[in-house]
Amino acid sequence: MTTHTLAIGLDGIAVAETDLSLVDGQNGLLVYRGHWARDLAIHHTFEEVAHLLWYGHLPSAQELAELQDKMRANRELPAHVKGILDLIPADVDMMSVLRTGVSALAAPDHAWPPSLDQVISLTAKMPTIVAHRFARLAGREPLNPRQDLNHTANYLYMLKGQEPSPAHVRALDAYLILTQEHGMNASTFSGRVVASTQSDLISSITAAIGALKGPLHGGAPSEVTEMIEAIGTKENAEPWLRAKLENGERLMGFGHRVYKTIDPRATALRVVASQLSADDPWFDLATHVEQVGLKLLDEYKPGRKLHTNVEFFAAAVMRAVGLDDFLFTPTFAVSRVVGWSAHVLEQASNNRIIRPQSNYIGSMPE
Ligand SMILES: CC(C)(COP(=O)(O)OP(=O)(O)OC[C@H]1O[C@@H](n2cnc3c(N)ncnc32)[C@H](O)[C@@H]1OP(=O)(O)O)[C@@H](O)C(=O)NCCC(=O)NCCS
Repeated sequence: MTTHTLAIGLDGIAVAETDLSLVDGQNGLLVYRGHWARDLAIHHTFEEVAHLLWYGHLPSAQELAELQDKMRANRELPAHVKGILDLIPADVDMMSVLRTGVSALAAPDHAWPPSLDQVISLTAKMPTIVAHRFARLAGREPLNPRQDLNHTANYLYMLKGQEPSPAHVRALDAYLILTQEHGMNASTFSGRVVASTQSDLISSITAAIGALKGPLHGGAPSEVTEMIEAIGTKENAEPWLRAKLENGERLMGFGHRVYKTIDPRATALRVVASQLSADDPWFDLATHVEQVGLKLLDEYKPGRKLHTNVEFFAAAVMRAVGLDDFLFTPTFAVSRVVGWSAHVLEQASNNRIIRPQSNYIGSMPE
């Protein structure tokens, strides 16, 4: 019987060449198309970095204005999508609602290969889906998107019902930029597998959302805040974390398949969060939990190189700008759709169906 090289979890296997990002896990580096992601997060906006990933370069003033206009013009949801969202029972989680809302955006013209206009339209609508649901759960009428606000400010406006402060917009923009793209992670791979069959953009992104939902991928930040709440006090940090590790459980917000040093996104977001939360006892406790967690992981898992990952400080930033826990992973999806769609376009430009093998270890017929 033929057996194939086995790579459980596809660890260390490259499945594509990409121009989009370099994730250097040994040295803790993240590059988007020749630019340091941390510099993009400090000096640029969501739309500018999306332009970089989609079109290959940072936009001129005119290109930026055109992209912003297109995104603003595409924020409204079709009536049937709102109707479908309103039919979903209130206890269904936000990621499932987002996945369903995106799926409902399928249209006859969503053909292969996807166009940049489809990508822009989808990216513009995802925050509106999240905000629509959020408003309904809060018992209020969803707000119409504001045409005078940029992508991030409009998202915060639709969620909170008031214009956000520039500091909050800047902080959330930094988070959304740092999470737009990250190589061949599980959700991006899922989206690319679907794209490789020449399916449509919406199907790819729906698959990616499903993958992101899992706690081992994008589902961790709300578990980070739950962990901090459960720990409650600095004195309780060590016994609580030790008990988890004794029990064989994982500490949320630590460890990464690729980063064997500090996740550069965590470094950048720690700075962003500390600027907003200097006097916040929650943040003080969180940084204490981080230090104790790192110490104990070194003790219980020596040599595994477990460091703080993006989710730990993503939770801190989103909490600081006033987002509820259950919005954390959907907000991650609102940013990552940029990378997912850039990968779908890249896959489409040089496609071969992704079709790995499995090794049969069952019995043969008598
Ligand atoms: C991210 C993650 C899924 C990567 O998984 P992976 O690359 O498959 O790592 P492995 O499962 O091979 O882990 C290697 C070892 O470190 C341990 N480990 C990894 N992450 C750990 C964590 N957060 N807490 C405790 N132990 C952890 C594993 O138990 C394993 O131990 P072992 O060698 O004794 O079996 C994993 O680190 C994790 O579950 N982290 C917590 C969830 C999280 O924060 N996710 C967000 C990622 S951005």
